[in-house]
Amino acid sequence: MTAINPVTDLTVEGEIGVLTLNSPPVNALSGRVRQGIYDGITAANADPAVKAIVLICEGRTFIAGADITEFGGASKGPGLHEVQDMMESSPKPVVAAIHGTALGGGLEVALCAHYRVAVPSAKVGLPEVNLGLLPGAGGTQRLPRIVGAQKALEMMTSGQHVPAKAALAMGLVDELAEEGKLREAAIAFAKKCVSENKPLVRVRDNDSKVAADRGKPEIFENFRKANARKFRGFMAPEWNIRCIEAAVNLPFEEGIAVERKLFMELMTGSQSAAQRYSFFAERTAQKIPDVPDTTEIIPVKKVGIIGAGTMGGGIAMNFANVGIPVVIVEVKQEALDRGLATIRKNYERTASRGGITAEQVEQRCALITGSLEMEALADVDMVIEAVFERMDIKKDIFTKLDVICKPGAILGTNTSGLNIDEIASVTQRPQDVIGLHFFSPANVMKLLEIIQADHTSKEVINTSMKLAKKIGKIAVLAGVCPGFVGNRILGPRQREAQKLVMEGAMPWDIDRVLYDFGFPMGPFAMSDLAGLDIGWVKERSKGESIRDVLCEMDRRGQKTGAGYYDYDENRVAKPSPVTEKIIHDFIVKSGANPRTIGDEEILERCIYPMINEGAKILEEGKAIRASDIDIVWQNGYGWPVYRGGPMFYGDLVGLPKVLAKMQEFQAKMGDAYKPAALLEKLVAEGKGFKDFKPNNGITTNTKKDTVHA
Ligand code: 3HC
Repeated sequence: MTAINPVTDLTVEGEIGVLTLNSPPVNALSGRVRQGIYDGITAANADPAVKAIVLICEGRTFIAGADITEFGGASKGPGLHEVQDMMESSPKPVVAAIHGTALGGGLEVALCAHYRVAVPSAKVGLPEVNLGLLPGAGGTQRLPRIVGAQKALEMMTSGQHVPAKAALAMGLVDELAEEGKLREAAIAFAKKCVSENKPLVRVRDNDSKVAADRGKPEIFENFRKANARKFRGFMAPEWNIRCIEAAVNLPFEEGIAVERKLFMELMTGSQSAAQRYSFFAERTAQKIPDVPDTTEIIPVKKVGIIGAGTMGGGIAMNFANVGIPVVIVEVKQEALDRGLATIRKNYERTASRGGITAEQVEQRCALITGSLEMEALADVDMVIEAVFERMDIKKDIFTKLDVICKPGAILGTNTSGLNIDEIASVTQRPQDVIGLHFFSPANVMKLLEIIQADHTSKEVINTSMKLAKKIGKIAVLAGVCPGFVGNRILGPRQREAQKLVMEGAMPWDIDRVLYDFGFPMGPFAMSDLAGLDIGWVKERSKGESIRDVLCEMDRRGQKTGAGYYDYDENRVAKPSPVTEKIIHDFIVKSGANPRTIGDEEILERCIYPMINEGAKILEEGKAIRASDIDIVWQNGYGWPVYRGGPMFYGDLVGLPKVLAKMQEFQAKMGDAYKPAALLEKLVAEGKGFKDFKPNNGITTNTKKDTVHA
């Protein structure tokens, strides 16, 4: 064995040179890895004993892409294109041996081998689009040459990871190896290349697939039309599409030139910066400084849920999906039956769309049982209470859980804002109590806010974080404060939206500005969708707010055909003259004069107070890092990923500008707009949220009197 460099070895086995990369965690194409491949291929080609070369990786995966941490910095070692040219023009056959994932630059390297062998569990893909990029190492030109324009469009704009078997069918992989026997299979394949004198296949030379798509612009136009909604606001999908058009219409080298130009446009833009930031932010959120990874994990083999409503049912599905049995406790048989029936219906809907098999529907439903007795929770390892947001009810439940549950069981509450310390105080085991704030629909939404209370133990936190990953959630740890991270930041935005209406902006103006910013919908469209009557009580309604009046007129949102908007039979919204008049009357009654409010002001009024609130959350230690706040907002509240999150966006527009606006708002409208001390400090120091040093952990409350929504 010859060490080529610290991450690459070359072994000659018979007539085959086996080049092995070992650069944990994912063999990303750092300078050292590129250098290793370059030098390794050079050495193998120079060795007369070597007749063919296998490129294989140690560890969990084949090359998972370019090293994203190197983006934007000075590049060391040979460029990726140089490495690829070296492989592709090798006079000896090169075979890529793929396990784990060959993604992005990893697949692009493999596409420069003459052949590819993979184990059945391997996956391949070009997921650059999810980083706001396009494959910049020839992938945009080589992939369509193997799979054709349509499949390339689908793969590159979704970033999907294609399983090896499907990759074989598409021609991306030449042979499947037996699981666990990749090395032997790849060497055998390489030997066959020598003995059968197989040609040196260069993907770039294969023109037949793209030639067949030439002169058919409708492939691209139809694809753009079909996906317009999904791609809204994002640059990268369109930039990927243009590259595939180039692959179809231009010679290889000219296509590569287009790819390079468009890649650089994305790479230097703010969208990709935001999306790359998000990639790391999501992973960083899993790291809790004062809860090391070695902290004990409590085995969770059975879960109990209290409440069979929309929330409870959705939460239960998450666990059944990964094979964990769940018992749901309800008060009334009818509610329990309804809840279980809804769960079955949801699974059947997924099955009808091909998401799971009929057998899986049965397996998952069988894992979810119901009970009318709290005693059914005696043997569960974790309980999640998902009942009404009323402190008295929650306290009653936790008092009972304290008696019924076995010692060490995790007692979780799905409250979206109540004081968890107060809930925990009725138990003798506050160390086991934690907030597990799921978002509706809980079987779909990715975010899980995990709330650490005063006494929550590290074991309970670690277990909850790890379990969240197991059930496919993105967990973020937050502290006890009104509304936690997500709803606390939502508060100022909702308040501003309402205030702006009272100053003369129409609900549809505000919704449009926020929609154009990238949110899936604005606050008024959202209210109409959810129902304006949530929390509204007819008997107590005295026409004191715009919402009261709308509800009193039976304009309770989409379900009644009218709310802030008027809806046609297809639920298409139109600005409503009725709402406009109600608003006008309210403004007149308040003695104010409506004014014209521009889009920029609407945006600044809605967004900057959110950033300010985020700064307060950080200074109070209720979130560990600014990026955790961004992950909450991306995954729970529809913040457009290409804008990073409120804190990233604050840094992007510049904290001095945010501070100046908050000061202006405060001078005009009072102390509700008072700038956060942290915002002032960062501006004074010329820093951004990106420079904020993470807290060691969440600051728990020193007082029990935290005011909660
Ligand atoms: N560069 C640098 N670091 C990377 C990386 C990459 N391409 N991919 C993963 N990592 C790091 C992660 O940050 C994480 O680090 P940490 O342990 O310090 O938090 C570690 O590797 C493990 O990653 P995951 O926690 O995500 O591990 P999983 O096993 O859950 O997932 C994976 C593995 C599927 C490979 C996933 O990491 C992934 O999707 N990675 C990104 C793949 C990608 O987007 N590749 C394209 C890169 S851009 C490119 O290639 C441009 C080219 O066209 C020129």
